[in-house]
Amino acid sequence: MEMCFGLLQTRGPKTSWISLIFLCSLLCTWTSVECWSYFYSNTNNMSWPQARAWCQEHYTDMVAIQNQEEIGHLNSWLPKKRTYYWIGIRKVEHVWTWVGTGKALTAEATNWAKGEPNNGKGVKRTGVKEDCVEMYIKSDSQPGKWNDERCEKLKTALCYTAACKDDSCRYGECVETINSHECACFEGFYGEKCEQVVQCNMEEVTVPYKGSVNCTHMYGNFSYDSSCQYSCEEGYQLSVSRPLKCNASQQWSERPPSCELVQCQVLSSPAGGSMKCSDPLGNSSYQSTCVFTCDEGHVLAGSPSNTLQCEASGIWNASQPLCLAVQCPSLQQLDNGFVSCGDDADVMFSYGNTCSFSCGPGYHLVGPSKAACTSAAVWSDRKPRCEAITCQNPEAGAHLVTQCSRPLTKLWPNSTCSFSCEAGFELQGAPSTQCSEGGQWSEAVPTCKAIGCPAPEIPTSAQISCSPPLSSPASTVTPHPLGTVCIFSCDEGHELQGALSMECANPGQWTSAPPNCTAVRCPLLEAPENGHINCSNSGFVSRGVDADVMFSYGNTCSFSCGPGYHLVGPSKAACTSAAVWSDRKPRCEAITCQNPEAGAHLVTQCSRPLTKLWPNSTCSFSCEAGFELQGAPSTQCSEGGQWSEAVPTCKAIGCPAPEIPTSAQISCSPPLSSPASTVTPHPLGTVCIFSCDEGHELQGALSMECANPGQWTSAPPNCTAVRCPLLDAPENGHINCSNSEPVLNSQCSFTCNQDYSLDGHELLTCDRHGNWTSGQKPTCQAPPSPVIAIASGVATGGALLSGLSLAVWILKRLKQRATKFELNSNSDIEAPPQVYKSSIDSLI
Ligand SMILES: *[C@@H]1O[C@H](CO)[C@@H](O)[C@H](O)[C@H]1NC(C)=O
Ligand SMILES: *[C@@H]1O[C@H](CO)[C@@H](O)[C@H](O)[C@H]1NC(C)=O
Repeated sequence: MEMCFGLLQTRGPKTSWISLIFLCSLLCTWTSVECWSYFYSNTNNMSWPQARAWCQEHYTDMVAIQNQEEIGHLNSWLPKKRTYYWIGIRKVEHVWTWVGTGKALTAEATNWAKGEPNNGKGVKRTGVKEDCVEMYIKSDSQPGKWNDERCEKLKTALCYTAACKDDSCRYGECVETINSHECACFEGFYGEKCEQVVQCNMEEVTVPYKGSVNCTHMYGNFSYDSSCQYSCEEGYQLSVSRPLKCNASQQWSERPPSCELVQCQVLSSPAGGSMKCSDPLGNSSYQSTCVFTCDEGHVLAGSPSNTLQCEASGIWNASQPLCLAVQCPSLQQLDNGFVSCGDDADVMFSYGNTCSFSCGPGYHLVGPSKAACTSAAVWSDRKPRCEAITCQNPEAGAHLVTQCSRPLTKLWPNSTCSFSCEAGFELQGAPSTQCSEGGQWSEAVPTCKAIGCPAPEIPTSAQISCSPPLSSPASTVTPHPLGTVCIFSCDEGHELQGALSMECANPGQWTSAPPNCTAVRCPLLEAPENGHINCSNSGFVSRGVDADVMFSYGNTCSFSCGPGYHLVGPSKAACTSAAVWSDRKPRCEAITCQNPEAGAHLVTQCSRPLTKLWPNSTCSFSCEAGFELQGAPSTQCSEGGQWSEAVPTCKAIGCPAPEIPTSAQISCSPPLSSPASTVTPHPLGTVCIFSCDEGHELQGALSMECANPGQWTSAPPNCTAVRCPLLDAPENGHINCSNSEPVLNSQCSFTCNQDYSLDGHELLTCDRHGNWTSGQKPTCQAPPSPVIAIASGVATGGALLSGLSLAVWILKRLKQRATKFELNSNSDIEAPPQVYKSSIDSLI
């Protein structure tokens, strides 16, 4: 009989445990089917321990029943036995336990019959425990249920065998299934027998700068559980030291690390020193070296060398050095004094510190007051000492007697010395002195002075002459000797009042007081009338006449005048040693302006008489007739006696220069100084006569005179060009003229038509009087008829005819002139008769 049934129970999180019960009769032949199988004993004569031993001997173990499906299967398949079957549950230490696994029975897995487990209800009765479990296979009332039973009872054993073999799964657990088994692979493995291993990406295992990697493989190249351990070159360290592990999810456990430069602790310059580092790879990193040097007066301490190097371990090869100040020998206190080196005991005697020395009361320092610790570890100065303070031996002057309270070498503070003088001398200064705490005498050592008269007081403005002479006339210290005679004299301008001489007599007294020298006095001086006087002496100024006491030798008085007055005489006077004034007294005169000097033709009128032209007086000016004023018409006298304006002048009024007409000449009496000048007026009475150039006729007044008030009696005349009467051609003839206008010297010629003969002059000329020469315009006559009688008549009666003709011509001329020219009776001058004569000559 072959029958397989699988049950799987999970025992833990990683491994599975399979209970396999193969139920089979002992007679059953084992078939080598790899599956989970049940077996049972053919006999029912086994206690529970016997049944289990039998199962373990022949199969795997006693069956462990855990679910209803298995119970159903066993209940239907196993034959019914009266004593039923033992199964693999037992009470162990009061707990129902699966003996195959040692695990406690869980509530869900129980399948107890009704009222069970009851411990047989006989525990109390018999004292026997029901600690083992039977299964009611094919029971009528409760098939397949469990009952607790005494383990000694004899029943049928129910066993199982497992299908899994040792090599069923290579990297996994074999899981029993009904009729078969499965491999539950460990993580990192797969495949039917879990023989395949997962792989991680080998490319991800990169080698870092300054590093290397070493991989170990448990199951295959870069596969599950492969481990790659990184390492770095000396002086570098891994950023992550854990190895890379390939895990079941085909991922590396870490990212590849980097190799980082090893860092040492950052060092700092020590106090009292300095540090210089070189960093070939990086700051304070592997192979960095730092050299320490100490400042003057400091020495390196705390390290075996002054050079530190950062090692691959990240630690400096020596501890950081210190710079300690050098120590000078310690200074002991002074006898009777003190040494003060500050409060800090650590640096008291160190380089750079200064100790000061002082002495107690009554002592003074001999030697330096301080000393400094030098870099050479010795003090800059020797230690001083304190000596007792004493005052110096008071040096004895001439004639001085000194007595001190102690010997002269021990004149400590509070010692006293007293002084006196030999006979004939007196003490100058303190009679005693005391030595102070500082070793100084309270008083200067006095001197001894010979007893004499005091230096005489020399009066002001006085001279003194003594015998024997005074060594220093102003000195009041040196006395005079007894018997000295002094004579006084006064300065110039002073007179002596008192004793003329005095003598030094016992006991150091002069026989008389010194005299006075008083200045001589000048006569009283009064202020001038309308004025003031100012006198001064030694900076004191007195005004007016009441200070007559001031009029003494050396004084000066100055004079001044009141408003409107000026000083006549000296402005000051000094009182001379002869008791007279150096200058006479001045007087004050009223200020006036000068009589304004009257020029020619000027008329002056003033507001006051000319001798009293005081300030504010005014004068006004005018000119005589025919003259005009040049300058200001009035002037005023100022406070200073000056006229505000200059005195004006009078200028004659004349006529303007006459205008000279074109083509005219002018002749004046008196002659014009410059004919063209229009600026210079011409004096009244000047007479000017005009004449015209040739060929011009004068029109207007021939002369003019300069009359009052500067006007010429008439306007200047005009000179117009001369013109002859216009001529026309004669009847039956022609005219031909040299000029279009009949001006002076124009010529006109006449001709007659054929057969006509010209009667008269052929050529007429315009003369300077405006007349045509030959007078009559010619005519053209018809051819001649008999005229001999007339001709003879002409010859015989020539004289008569000529007289008649002259009279006719004069009449004709007068008539012509009256009609052709505008005649001026004053200026029209008839041509002289000889002109007419020549005309008549031409007619004849
Ligand atoms: C591992 O790699 C080496 C070298 O490439 C090779 O000889 C060996 O067969 C590989 N092993 C596996 C299990 O792949
Ligand atoms: C540390 O290293 C420096 C440089 O190499 C060396 O000079 C020095 O002596 C070393 N110090 C010690 C204590 O080894």
